[in-house]
Amino acid sequence: MGLNILVIGSGGREHTIAQKLYQSPKVDSVFCAKGNAGMKKDGIQLVDIAEDDHVSLIEFAKEQKIDWTFVGPEIPLLNGIVDDFTAEGLLIFGPTKAAALIEGSKDFAKELMNRYNIPTAEHQTFSDFERAKAYVLEKGASIVIKADGLAAGKGVVVAETTAEAIEALEDMLKENKFGQSGAKVVVEEFLEGEEFSLLAFVRDQEVYPMVIAQDHKRAYDGDLGPNTGGMGAYAPVPQIPRSLIEKAVSTIVRPAALGMIEEGKPFTGILYTGLIATSAGPKVIEFNARFGDPETQVVLQRLNSDLAQIIDDLLHGKTPEIEWKQTGYSLGVVVAAKGYPGEYQKDHTVPAAFDASDEHIYYAGVKETSGQLLSNGGRVYLVEASRDTLKEAQEAVYERLEKMDTTGLFYRKDIGFKAIDSI
Ligand code: AMP
Ligand code: GLY
Repeated sequence: MGLNILVIGSGGREHTIAQKLYQSPKVDSVFCAKGNAGMKKDGIQLVDIAEDDHVSLIEFAKEQKIDWTFVGPEIPLLNGIVDDFTAEGLLIFGPTKAAALIEGSKDFAKELMNRYNIPTAEHQTFSDFERAKAYVLEKGASIVIKADGLAAGKGVVVAETTAEAIEALEDMLKENKFGQSGAKVVVEEFLEGEEFSLLAFVRDQEVYPMVIAQDHKRAYDGDLGPNTGGMGAYAPVPQIPRSLIEKAVSTIVRPAALGMIEEGKPFTGILYTGLIATSAGPKVIEFNARFGDPETQVVLQRLNSDLAQIIDDLLHGKTPEIEWKQTGYSLGVVVAAKGYPGEYQKDHTVPAAFDASDEHIYYAGVKETSGQLLSNGGRVYLVEASRDTLKEAQEAVYERLEKMDTTGLFYRKDIGFKAIDSI
């Protein structure tokens, strides 16, 4: 009998993870809680239980004889879903509540980096406005202000002037615009260079790096407009040399995994490192305790091995065999509701799936009404293509998008531009 798997989450990232798991010959069924209606085309079964309802999820996992659970988003991890499932004798892949702090508290992440000499932007943490302001005036602009806790990607201000930085400090420390998340702020040096995401399967001291990706965080073409959860990504990133990636693994990802053990918070799960390739080498801008969205939609296309087998091996103390494609590229473009990341409308028509072996649609903010998919969130879906060259992958995605009805929705027209301009 094959595996029964439960995936927690409901976005494009979870759609991709669940689809890849279900493609494994080892797997009988994949459930997703709550998932989204668009996932059903790939044989994923939806479970109507909220991701913070651990008691009902545990009950479901027991009743359905789930072999193991995979956690997509950070919130359930920080709520201790891994601890709760483990206490009930259930297998689950992801970091404990204590280990997820590497994402949940920027202050904790910075202390870890200080203690284990992991290269990152120079920084200090403040809860007092006047002290923070004095530090900003001493360091000058450009400078970056970050709310300590989770703020859905909106708690970071890259200030070009000291006035802008002080305004951000006022919002967070005086006016509590970010609530508890902004009661402490990290003020850090602006790092100059290209950004990339390095994800790894981690089991305590063992680190298995994935192919790197580059996200596009700003809403509009040319990296303009507000920060979002991510508007598109591609993998691998040809302009980042292999030697720099190796340096990032040896000076950042491995020391972070070892540091977590030293701190009494051993990390098992997916460790996402957001990096800038500075002239002085790779430096960390953030750690996440999970897969990235939309990085996952492109990175997992580069995997030759069976994802279900990898996770199963990691959960059973075995050494996983992980093989990545050596040639070709994957590129994905997010289609979002007009207005995102601010206010946006819902209920726009969402195209049905298309079938192609080297192109996919991954759904996120969608719902089903009378058999029709309608938009129901900010990021609605992502179209991905894999080809021999990045340019071909980019053309394939945009050709596909031009044929689709995107009324009420928008997407960036330049995903991959940094790589394509540089080759
Ligand atoms: P974060 O939520 O920490 O990923 O920050 C959001 C975005 O702000 C990042 O993806 C970067 O593009 C930018 N950013 C954050 N920290 C820095 C930094 N120290 N230097 C330059 N850019 C940064
Ligand atoms: N794409 C950025 C993230 O998942 O955090």
